[in-house]
Amino acid sequence: MEQYIIKGGNPLVGEVEIGGAKNAALAILAAAIMTDETVRIDNLPDVRDINVLLEAIEMIGATVDRVDRHTVRINGSTIGDVSVDYEYIKKIRASYYLLGALLGKYKKAEVPLPGGCNIGSRPIDQHLKGFRALGASVDILHGAIVARASSLEGSHIFLDMVSVGATINIMMAASMARGRTIIENAAREPHVVDVANFLNSMGANIKGAGTDVIRIRGVEQLHATDYSIVPDMIEAGTYMTAAAATKGDILIKNVIPKHLEATTAKLVEIGCQIEEFDDAVRVIASRRLRRTHVKTLPYPGFPTDMQPQMAVVLTMSEGTSIVTESIFENRFKYADELARMGADIKVEGNSAIIDGVERLTGARVSAPDLRAGAALVIAGLAADGITMVDDIVYVQRGYEDFEGKLSSLGANIQRVFSEKEAQKFKLRIG
Ligand code: UD1
Repeated sequence: MEQYIIKGGNPLVGEVEIGGAKNAALAILAAAIMTDETVRIDNLPDVRDINVLLEAIEMIGATVDRVDRHTVRINGSTIGDVSVDYEYIKKIRASYYLLGALLGKYKKAEVPLPGGCNIGSRPIDQHLKGFRALGASVDILHGAIVARASSLEGSHIFLDMVSVGATINIMMAASMARGRTIIENAAREPHVVDVANFLNSMGANIKGAGTDVIRIRGVEQLHATDYSIVPDMIEAGTYMTAAAATKGDILIKNVIPKHLEATTAKLVEIGCQIEEFDDAVRVIASRRLRRTHVKTLPYPGFPTDMQPQMAVVLTMSEGTSIVTESIFENRFKYADELARMGADIKVEGNSAIIDGVERLTGARVSAPDLRAGAALVIAGLAADGITMVDDIVYVQRGYEDFEGKLSSLGANIQRVFSEKEAQKFKLRIG
């Protein structure tokens, strides 16, 4: 039993340092095996998903040298196996990035088909369509995707929907294809740009990342690089909403304010004060916030990964808000948990209708997935009394030292492993 126990009600005040973007790092670690030279990656977040992917990379034979908590050196020259074990894909979907990386480098790859995920059905047809367009044969055999090509040839690919994963996976494979590839309707997320920058620093020739048309001229070989991962816009956004929900004042450091604009705009709209600096944002919420509508969209729209955290803020904002989820169909599993804390929230189709209440009250709740888990922690920090959050393993997948960073902002939060520890916390907090 590992839980967060929280005594809410304190405004969060102070400074917090944001780490490297988990979703960029996952793709970059996979791409690092595409050269036989040693790649050094810095500003890596020390979170579960990253550590699992590093194990998967080691398991196929690459040399992984963890220099320190946030730095790793990877050498892909020792890879002996292009087949990834089901254990890893089960733990993190993003190990499917090894498909694009291995296919690009060795022209063959075998990765188990990712199973269902708890935020909705997540097909990968666009990834496979891209590999096929590059000339690979792609078959599903015994639950695994088996991709092979005698040679990969550049191609013109139009994605049916904006997909971060497909854009990155195709970009990786196409980096080592012959000739020119054009990806149309590409995802524009900052981590797509970061992966393109990383590949370019290894000698790839990718242009247009960050727009909806990416042009890639394939190269025969990639080489060593030393690269630092972009700051995590979702971790940053999560602390922004923590300031808003607790009526706090947080300076969020080591961010790229441009990447946070969709969240910033919504928070300003509902009454927060936001100051932007070169590499920091300060969020101040001094009074009750107002209602708004939010619709998730691909970047630069409002990120689906910020939807639950924003919804928590709106549960305590004056008036009726509507939150519409347009990327994943099953991203409101936290709504019932919030209702247990006194929120007035009901889900109809792909929207949640929220009538703002004055305050939430602490309750025992359970994290249904990573971002919803973070959102429930924020709800607990804002609520009166004690909140216990179960299943926090989800939260640990994507937030480094969440409880430590929140505590440094004045939160009363502790990770506990037993009922006894929970009791001790309650006695200490009073
Ligand atoms: C990535 C992020 C995830 C984020 C999401 C959207 C990682 C590891 N995860 O997930 O945190 O919530 O982007 O910003 O970076 N789709 C298809 N076919 C495909 C691919 C996608 O139908 O082949 C659909 C999906 O079901 C979804 C939409 O396209 O409805 C967007 O998905 P996508 O951008 O691919 O998300 P992920 O890359 O899985």
